[in-house]
Amino acid sequence: MTVSSPAKINLFLAVTGRRADGFHDLVSLVAPVAFGDELEVAVEPGGGDIVLTCDDERVPCGAQNLAVRAAEEFRMAAEVEVGVRIRMNKRIPMGAGLGGASSNAAAVLRALNTLLGSPLAEGDLRLLAASLGSDCPLFLFGEPCVMRGRGERLERLPEAVAARLAGRRLLLYKPDFSISTPWAYGALAAMAPSGYIESRLAEAMLSRWLSSSDGPETLLFNSFAAVADRKFMALPVLAERLRGMPGVQGVLMTGSGSASFALLDEEADAQSLEAEI
Ligand code: C5P
Repeated sequence: MTVSSPAKINLFLAVTGRRADGFHDLVSLVAPVAFGDELEVAVEPGGGDIVLTCDDERVPCGAQNLAVRAAEEFRMAAEVEVGVRIRMNKRIPMGAGLGGASSNAAAVLRALNTLLGSPLAEGDLRLLAASLGSDCPLFLFGEPCVMRGRGERLERLPEAVAARLAGRRLLLYKPDFSISTPWAYGALAAMAPSGYIESRLAEAMLSRWLSSSDGPETLLFNSFAAVADRKFMALPVLAERLRGMPGVQGVLMTGSGSASFALLDEEADAQSLEAEI
């Protein structure tokens, strides 16, 4: 079975505080984008190994790969004895905040459940996804949504709001350095409480945008920008230059970075932007 495994961007990402379990609570508006990896997933009845191969040799293919862990956890939860072969066509860069590994894991869960005749109910699949990573549930969901809690509480957007996001032109770019997610959360925690946005304020910012008729450019916010911009000064410098170019409606880092996106109107010339980057 061939499945697509899209990247995501966070148009709004407010980290509201640290929880007792060490994770952080957040409020985010997140959307899968029409760019991503492709996976081929096959099962062999009777049992066997989980074998992952990837066209990008930088991708670790052992048990540390979240797609392999997803297949392992799925076999255990569904109590099925199958071998699993996954062929990955990798386009989403790692350490980018684009959710590549989480997306791959969710795609494997979805594919295995379909191939094996749905041994897991939708709720169990969601729990399994949440146990693999905070961004996994959103990829099972598969459409723009508001994400809360650690990332496991997802709320569908009203149709009119989703329509404001659909078909928007984006330029994604990733600098040649990566940002580790635990580092980014740690840096926010070290600034506490000033690195966090009060949840009441985050909810107010989001609901004001949801009830407006504005495009996504007026929503853009990312708590991680403050810590990333301080350490990697090229990020704010480049973002500011891109904001000044024709047809660019907004620029924001996605997730914990280092990838960022520019919202473009029809006039923007992607080639000049690429040259500037
Ligand atoms: O869940 P995931 O594996 O993506 O999280 C990676 C790391 O990011 C966690 O170990 C934790 O340090 C941090 N994190 C967090 N709060 C979240 C999501 C991730 O503190 N909501």
